Amino acid sequence: MRLDDILFSQGFGTRRVCAGLVQQGHVEVGGVLEHASSEPEFQLETDAASEWAPELYPDGFCFRVDGRIWRYQSLAYVVLNKPTGIECSQKPSAWPSVYTLLPAPLRQRPCPGKVQGVQAVGRLDQDTTGMLLLSDDGKFLHRMTSPKHHMPKVYEVNLKHAVVDDVAQTMLGRLLAGVVLEDDPQPVKAQAAELLSPTHLQLTLTEGKFHQVKRMVAAVGNRVEALHRSQIGGLKLPEDVPPGQWRWLTAQELQQLQG
Ligand code: URA
Repeated sequence: MRLDDILFSQGFGTRRVCAGLVQQGHVEVGGVLEHASSEPEFQLETDAASEWAPELYPDGFCFRVDGRIWRYQSLAYVVLNKPTGIECSQKPSAWPSVYTLLPAPLRQRPCPGKVQGVQAVGRLDQDTTGMLLLSDDGKFLHRMTSPKHHMPKVYEVNLKHAVVDDVAQTMLGRLLAGVVLEDDPQPVKAQAAELLSPTHLQLTLTEGKFHQVKRMVAAVGNRVEALHRSQIGGLKLPEDVPPGQWRWLTAQELQQLQG
């Protein structure tokens, strides 16, 4: 596999563009990165040639294009901290798309027979903040979104009306037992529901119906003032990813997600 093939596989443009990047000296080759999170150390390989044996670029092998460091990843797994005022759709109707927060290579990664680039694992509303996963691994996307897999997602809900004592107990009981949503005869229930303060409800859901948290909260007579997704599966939103930023998931985090 040649360097321009590697660039192509990682979404740096057409084969022609990638060949041009190499020929014009825009690409430097570095060592293997241990860590996905912190700013990586880049050690330039002095004998960089334009061809390598495949065993020389395992996941994590890094290269630098126009000064920006990239890690080779056969499949991309990304966590993003979604801010408000952003839609999760590729073709948003009123707000900028979450995909504008990603660099072009992540949006352009070639996926044979499929849509190009990474896809979001489910969607968050425009005004919801927090953890969003993106990947180009079809099996992973399916596993994370399919209702059959019951992947728990934790939401921090800021309630409009403070609830205490008996009212609080009744509300939690109803959310756990199941509430009927408008236009939907099947009751939906929370896997866990806890009041962390009179206006802070923590809700764990294993389904992802349209506006589900907002509709469940409305069904118990309250209103969502602000909504934040703090955890998916066993993985909390990493603290080193500020709103509007993304980073690669580490192998350990990928395991935590599914564990
Ligand atoms: N439930 C909602 O109501 N909105 C979201 O963005 C996610 C879950």
